[in-house]
Amino acid sequence: MSDKIFITGGTGMLGVYVANALSDTHCQIVVADRHRFDLSNPKCIYSFIREERPNVILHFAAETDVDLCEREPARAGICNHLATEQIAKAAEACGAWLLYISSSNVFGAEGKISYNELDIPIPTNYYGRSKLNGEEAVKANCPERHLILRAGWMIGGGPGKDHKFVGKIIQQIKNGAAELKAVSDRLGSITYAVQLSEFILWAINQRQTGTFHFASNGTISRFDIARAIGDLLNYRGDIVPVQSSMFPLSAPRPFSEGIKSLYLSTLDESINPGYWKDDLARYIATFQG
Ligand SMILES: NC(=O)c1ccc[n+]([C@@H]2O[C@H](COP(=O)([O-])OP(=O)(O)OC[C@H]3O[C@@H](n4cnc5c(N)ncnc54)[C@H](OP(=O)(O)O)[C@@H]3O)[C@@H](O)[C@H]2O)c1
Repeated sequence: MSDKIFITGGTGMLGVYVANALSDTHCQIVVADRHRFDLSNPKCIYSFIREERPNVILHFAAETDVDLCEREPARAGICNHLATEQIAKAAEACGAWLLYISSSNVFGAEGKISYNELDIPIPTNYYGRSKLNGEEAVKANCPERHLILRAGWMIGGGPGKDHKFVGKIIQQIKNGAAELKAVSDRLGSITYAVQLSEFILWAINQRQTGTFHFASNGTISRFDIARAIGDLLNYRGDIVPVQSSMFPLSAPRPFSEGIKSLYLSTLDESINPGYWKDDLARYIATFQG
């Protein structure tokens, strides 16, 4: 690989894994910080990319706080939709291949357990709506050279950096908590960011196009995840299933945003995610020894 690759969101959970993996290649990497490249100022985005002239754009940056997006829908729309539209227009103008990471949050309103690539997305919150509008902007403005990957609940970051659900459960277990509570009435799928980053490197090489779901097999609750972590870490306390109404949030969460792929296995079996418990165990192993 000897591409000039522009990464947005290179400081985020996924962006760090991908930037590290790419640093072992001959690619020239451009990672812009917020001072030079701000999603909330889409006007500057187009000219920034035109000046850099990358031939690959990995668009990971987003307003990812689902509840903030609900409270400030205009911000969600600007950062996740309009900024993505400018990136797609600039990609088209540069002849660049564009990767956009979308989310299982584009689904949920239909009330199904699990959604594949043939399901028509209908989101239940502003974050999901803004990510879906981002997808549509990519398709409309960079029609021939884009890849859209929809990820589920992303796990990653590792020790000291994971402040999300998995990191919090591990921390509580390490702190000797006698009891853990986890929501059992909301479902989704997990995506291990390391596996996604490996797939992204493969996709850059292939210049893969289209829309794919990328998540481990299984539609599960956070209670299932907590129980699996408890088993992996020999936790002896109680893990208690609770209703989502115990943790009121600004943004409505769908009953299920589980995703599975009809098409991923047609690409290359060796870079497909596996069964959710196995992929979770791979990640949990990075916290041990
Ligand atoms: N996390 C999940 O569970 C999940 C699930 C499905 C899909 N996704 C999608 O996957 C992608 C990567 O997610 P992630 O979890 O790696 O994200 P993350 O850790 O929340 O990082 C977000 C990145 O976007 C950047 N960013 C945020 N607002 C910005 C702005 N106004 N201008 C410029 N940069 C800005 C952040 O920069 P700073 O470091 O400066 O804050 C950071 O690099 C996102 O597109 C997200 O929508 C995430």
